Amino acid sequence: MEMESPSPFKGDILKGKVVLLTGGGSGIGFEISAQFGKHGASIAIMGRRKNVLDDAVSALRSLGIPAVGFVGDVRRREDAQRVVDATVKHFGKLDILVNAAAGNFLVAAEDLSPNGFKTVLDIDSVGTFTMCHEALKYLKKGGPGRSSSDGGFILNISATLHFTASWYQIHVSAAKAAVDSLTRNLALEWGTDYDIRVNGIAPGPIGDTAGFRKLMPQEMNNKVMEDLPLDKVGEKWDVAMAALYLASDAGKFINGTTLTVDGGAWLSRPRR
Ligand code: HXC
Repeated sequence: MEMESPSPFKGDILKGKVVLLTGGGSGIGFEISAQFGKHGASIAIMGRRKNVLDDAVSALRSLGIPAVGFVGDVRRREDAQRVVDATVKHFGKLDILVNAAAGNFLVAAEDLSPNGFKTVLDIDSVGTFTMCHEALKYLKKGGPGRSSSDGGFILNISATLHFTASWYQIHVSAAKAAVDSLTRNLALEWGTDYDIRVNGIAPGPIGDTAGFRKLMPQEMNNKVMEDLPLDKVGEKWDVAMAALYLASDAGKFINGTTLTVDGGAWLSRPRR
């Protein structure tokens, strides 16, 4: 196993912050959980699978990070409400919401049923909106545990698929385009009204993730690798460092932006 790179940030940049992450038990979501925790935050994670959550919480606690897991599906409004409330009950407040839960599979548009299309939009787009909506009362300035001038932060994980067009990903492209749109609109409305910053990260090909395994079968993988500008796929660490930058005070004037973390992959064209 590769050694993790040291963080370029000080260890207290998220000191005292309470973070809730959907999809925080595995993949990119877990890496963000761990890095936010290592930089001072308390971590609540939400996911559908209890065993995944239990393992993730144990791993976080073994690093000395205050952590708790809540089972829930972002497609169910009552789950969203219950988990947001439970997080605040457990840690006393909520400062940061990270929407990292997602669903996908490769399928040609003509073979995708409308319900398959809807399922992914329900998870990625409607789920993100639902979580933001339920978290608002805690994140707004003057909310429980916050000063009258200090709003919280929302980070939405999307993708680069919809920057152009993506084979066999019509459902995920549409869903992630909607997520980027939510990021901009909420940044406008809730930045103005409640001092909440809302940003996104669009990861490109990141190794050792469900997305990479599901979306990059070996035969596609080899072709894609040939054209990557930095000659490599990213690490979950790269996404987590971008998330730390946006969530910390370093990002305090950044609002409504989706930061692409893909090594330039979406710009890539075969050399002529
Ligand atoms: C075609 C499919 C399908 C497939 C499901 N469907 N899988 N269609 N090909 N492989 C269709 C079904 O036929 C059904 O439509 C509808 O989708 C709902 O399927 P269910 O199995 O009932 O859904 P559910 O059990 O809720 O599961 C949701 C899921 C599943 C999205 C389908 O894959 C899941 O839970 N995924 C979560 C984990 C995950 O995918 N993580 C990867 C995240 S990576 P009909 O019409 O038959 O009823 C990521 C990266 C983003 O998101 C992009 C990076 C580049």
